[in-house]
Amino acid sequence: MTDGRQLGFDTLQIHAGAAPDPATGARQTPIYQTTAYVFRDADHAAALFNLQEVGYIYSRLTNPTVAALADRICALEGGAGAICCSSGHAAQIMALFPLMGPGLNIVASTRLYGGTITQFSQTIKRFGWSARFVDTEDAEAVKNAIDENTRAIFCESIANPGGYITDIPAMAAIADAAGIPLIVDNTSATPYLCNPIALGATLVVHSTTKYLTGNGTVTGGCVVDSGKFDWSASGKFPSLSQPEPAYHGLVFHEALGAMAYTFHSIAVGLRDLGMTMNPQGAHYTLMGIETLSLRMEKHVENARKVAEWLEQDPRVEAVTYAGLPSSPYYERVATICPKGAGALFTFAVKGGFDACVKLVDSLELFSHVANLGDARSLVIHSASTTHRQLTPEQLEAAGAAPDMVRVSIGIEDAEDLIADLDQALAKATA
Ligand SMILES: Cc1ncc(COP(=O)(O)O)c(C=O)c1O
Repeated sequence: MTDGRQLGFDTLQIHAGAAPDPATGARQTPIYQTTAYVFRDADHAAALFNLQEVGYIYSRLTNPTVAALADRICALEGGAGAICCSSGHAAQIMALFPLMGPGLNIVASTRLYGGTITQFSQTIKRFGWSARFVDTEDAEAVKNAIDENTRAIFCESIANPGGYITDIPAMAAIADAAGIPLIVDNTSATPYLCNPIALGATLVVHSTTKYLTGNGTVTGGCVVDSGKFDWSASGKFPSLSQPEPAYHGLVFHEALGAMAYTFHSIAVGLRDLGMTMNPQGAHYTLMGIETLSLRMEKHVENARKVAEWLEQDPRVEAVTYAGLPSSPYYERVATICPKGAGALFTFAVKGGFDACVKLVDSLELFSHVANLGDARSLVIHSASTTHRQLTPEQLEAAGAAPDMVRVSIGIEDAEDLIADLDQALAKATA
C-alpha cells in the first residue's frame, strides 16, 4: 500500500503473495498447471540460471501458484523468503539440507511429533546426519548436547500430541550463543497464534497439510527463513558461505544476502531433491489460508470449552491443554502464543489403554484419523498409531503415554463435541 501501512494479519492472509492475474485479470490466483516457462531469449535464460533475475524456469523449482502460497506464508510468519514442499516431512529435510553434511548433528526436542522423532532418529542417519534428543525444559541439557558438529536446534512451538509449549526465546538464546539456527515447527500453532521469528527463531517449518489448509484435502509443507542469520560468521555453513560446488561455485550468502538460504533451497534443494509442492495442492492451501484467523479463533475457543469440561469429569484422569490454569505451561501461553494455546491436546482416561481404545471406537462426531488441524474434530490413540514406532521411554517423553487420547478440536459447536465425548466416555468406562 502507498501510505506504507503495515497490513494486518487478516488482510495478509487474503492478499499477500497474490494480485489479479496479469494476463487475464482473474481475481483468484489461477492454478498454473504448467511445467515450463518460455525464455524471452538466450540472455534471459542465462540471467535466470545465474540467479541474476528472478523468474520461472521449471516447476520443480518454482511455479506461480506455489510461489503465491510461499509468499503468503512468508508474510504471515514475518520471514524474508519461503519454500513450499510436497509435505511437512519434506519441509523438515529441506530445512536441514543447506545446513547439514555427513557427520553433523542437530539437537532436537524429545517432545516432537512421533513421525519427526522417527525421521530424525532413524531415516536421516542414511545421509550421515544425526539427532540428539533432549527435553527442552532442561536448558542446561540442551546447551550440553551442542558440540562443534551441531548445526541447529529443532523444536515445535505447540507440540503434537501433548500441546506442550516450548520456551522459544530460551531456545533461541542457546542457539544464538552457539552460533547455530533455531528451527521451529509451527504446524500446531500456525502464524496466527505464534510467531517464532519474532521470538528469535531463524527458520520456521510447517506441515501445511494441517491448519493452514484446514480441511484435510492436501499434503504440503513450507520452510520460512527469517533472513536474519549470518551464515558467514563461522565456517559452519559452507553451502551458504563458500563456493557451492552444486551451483557452479556460487557463494550464496555473498551474492544473495538475506535471500541466500531461500535461493539455495530452490536452486539446489528443490532442483536436486525434487520435494516440490504441486500447483493444485498450493491452490487448496491458498483457499484455506484465507480464513485461517477465523478458524483458529474458533478452534481455540472450542478447545478451551472442551478441555474445561473434560478436566472436571470424574472419568478423566488428566488433561494436558496449556490453556488450562492447571497446566504447568499456562503462564507461557501469554508470551509464546498470546491468542491461545491451540486446539491440540491429550487427555488420560481412567481405565488406561483399553478404555482409550473403546472411547475412540465409541465417538461419533469425532473422526478416528491420523491427522490434525482439520475443520472437523479428530481423535487418535497416539500410542497405538502415530507414535507406535517409539520406545516406551520415547512415548512418555513425547506425551503419548498408553492411557492418553489425542484430540484435535474442530470448529463445530462445542456443545455437540462435549455431548459426543460424554456418551463415548460412558461406554469406555462402563
Ligand atoms: C507437528 C507436525 N509436524 C510435521 C508433520 C509432518 O507433516 P506431513 O504429514 O505433512 O508430512 C506433522 C504430521 O502430522 C505434524 O503433526
